[in-house]
Amino acid sequence: MLLQFLKTAKHRAGTLVRQWQLRERQYQPILLDERALDAIRRHDYEALFANGWAEPGERKCTDRLELLVTELRAIAPEARTVLDLGCANGFIDHVLAAHGYSVSGVDNDAHNRVFDHAPRPALEIARDVARRFDLTCEFYDSDAQGFLESTDRTWDASLCLSLVHHFFVGYGFSGENRSGEEGVVRLLRLLAGRTRRVLFFESMPKVMAEHGWGDDVIRDKLASATDWNVREIGRSSERGFRERRLYALTPPA
Ligand SMILES: C[S@@+](CC[C@H](N)C(=O)[O-])C[C@H]1O[C@@H](n2cnc3c(N)ncnc32)[C@H](O)[C@@H]1O
Repeated sequence: MLLQFLKTAKHRAGTLVRQWQLRERQYQPILLDERALDAIRRHDYEALFANGWAEPGERKCTDRLELLVTELRAIAPEARTVLDLGCANGFIDHVLAAHGYSVSGVDNDAHNRVFDHAPRPALEIARDVARRFDLTCEFYDSDAQGFLESTDRTWDASLCLSLVHHFFVGYGFSGENRSGEEGVVRLLRLLAGRTRRVLFFESMPKVMAEHGWGDDVIRDKLASATDWNVREIGRSSERGFRERRLYALTPPA
């Protein structure tokens, strides 16, 4: 009887964890809703989160989007092209494209496949939305470092948002495919080499701190990896999510 109880408890815990992960992964399934897409076309972020389209635990992107668009316009008003590494389902890219930017998103489907319950590959959603709404986005299924090494293109701006903590904890926190600090530094160096005006970096402070990239040192780490100037431009702390910090890196004058 005790064994049965333990088995049931384990099964329930597993289901709860999977449901939680699914919800995190699917944080913008509303993108497939026509009305939500219409809101994107109208650049109306708030409408996306009205009408109960967002789940209570979902991460809103509105705070980051406002910061990103405002800073991008201020730092590089002439910028037209943006590269987004670890773009997931492309929500940020669709919104930037709706603002007139031409966006390249890169994500690694192998990363997503560690979630065996994933409803659809993230890039499939990203491409569907871009196609259906004629948004100027292209999406590459690739490892971020491999992608940067395989191209000599450059972009006006680049995004590296909540990506590199996976280099410490592995795909989907699974421990698979970790490259550690060396991998993070290599990626940032490569990315700076492909970015003309501004690189936006977002950390996930708790995980990064556990691996020696805490808030007290992260600016220095970013600066020494790239030799660029680093400025914290904002913080986001939204329902159900740990606070994250956003930095703008710009090349030396
Ligand atoms: C936590 S999500 C962040 C998504 C988005 N950048 C954001 O901030 O909302 C991390 C994303 O990075 C992708 N990813 C992780 N490791 C990667 C790698 N080595 N190359 C490309 N994408 C990777 C994952 O598939 C996932 O979509």
